[in-house]
Amino acid sequence: MIRVAVVGAGHWGPNLIRNFHDESRSDVTWVIDTNAARIDQLRERYPNARMSPDAGDALSDPQVDAVVVSTPTITHYEIARRALRQDKHVLVEKPVAASCKQANELCDLAESRGRILMVGHTFLYNSAVRWVQKYIEAGDLGRIYYISMVRTNLGPIRMDVNAAWDLASHDISIANHWLGAEPQSAAATGGNWINPGIQDAVFSTLRYSDDVLVHLHASWLNPRKARDITVVGAKRMLTFNDLDITEPIRIYDKKVSDERTQVEFIDSIASFRASVREGDITIPRVTLAEPLKTQCGRFLDHIQDGGRPDSDGRFGAAVVRVLEAMERSMQNAGREERVVL
Ligand SMILES: NC(=O)c1ccc[n+]([C@@H]2O[C@H](COP(=O)([O-])OP(=O)(O)OC[C@H]3O[C@@H](n4cnc5c(N)ncnc54)[C@H](O)[C@@H]3O)[C@@H](O)[C@H]2O)c1
Repeated sequence: MIRVAVVGAGHWGPNLIRNFHDESRSDVTWVIDTNAARIDQLRERYPNARMSPDAGDALSDPQVDAVVVSTPTITHYEIARRALRQDKHVLVEKPVAASCKQANELCDLAESRGRILMVGHTFLYNSAVRWVQKYIEAGDLGRIYYISMVRTNLGPIRMDVNAAWDLASHDISIANHWLGAEPQSAAATGGNWINPGIQDAVFSTLRYSDDVLVHLHASWLNPRKARDITVVGAKRMLTFNDLDITEPIRIYDKKVSDERTQVEFIDSIASFRASVREGDITIPRVTLAEPLKTQCGRFLDHIQDGGRPDSDGRFGAAVVRVLEAMERSMQNAGREERVVL
């Protein structure tokens, strides 16, 4: 039995507690939250878990094998570092830390202690996202031209990080996973209207090698909840709507056909249309499971087998590297910034 302590039981933490509680291989032995009201709400549901406002109580407990950190981003580094120093395995929510320096330090610490450091990039454990990754890898979309990603809603508004760190961190993880690469540069513009210095909406363009562009629109100040992704390839195009729980993926057999190069000149709308291929739209059947359940299961797998999680600390650090480049760009009026300095 793997004994788990969950630190942070706000909006997201209870989902982690439920998953580790329901897993036959793990037991939630501690729930920690500085907010006493949150603890009281959970006490009845998990009577066997010990509860405390102080993470130190769980981190110093030799019975605890793994610590799950689901507190605000700015606190991740300190809690994860203390847990790793106590030789606990750590699953830390995304983004792994508030800076690349902190993220790298956590990775080094986990490696030197021989402990698993996994980051809660949940979308890597989403079966539709994984389906698309395999589809891209098989070359069925052809060369990728660009990916457009929209993640908007009205709230929740955070005080510790901006909309890019909170929302676009998901999209960066998906893009890096699908493209199997990190972007070379990032340009970003953000607006802050609600809380001084914290961008409520961020618009960003990431440039990967081979002229692949990724455009991000992340906002918690928007009337519409959207989780829309469009991937445009040379052979086909694809959309992914994470809010459509039955048919999230659509594949468009559409492309700009090679015929265009055989037309000597395009002098009418008819000949221009002839250069565009409009084929069928197909909806692949994807069996959807709760991504968080899969993610928690993988964490336990890797504690047992010592394997490397797909969203390990280094993967999480790469996401933070992009967020830092976006941050620099916002400070420099949207100037394109290199991701790897
Ligand atoms: N993977 C996902 O899909 C996903 C979804 C939502 C949130 N998250 C991440 O989860 C984390 C938490 O988000 P949330 O929405 O639950 O935030 P939240 O503000 O609702 O909850 C955070 C909780 O942590 C507690 N807390 C703060 N500092 C603490 C400390 N030092 N020790 C113990 N408890 C402390 C707070 O009292 C609060 O109850 C964030 O990093 C967020 O990015 C991930």
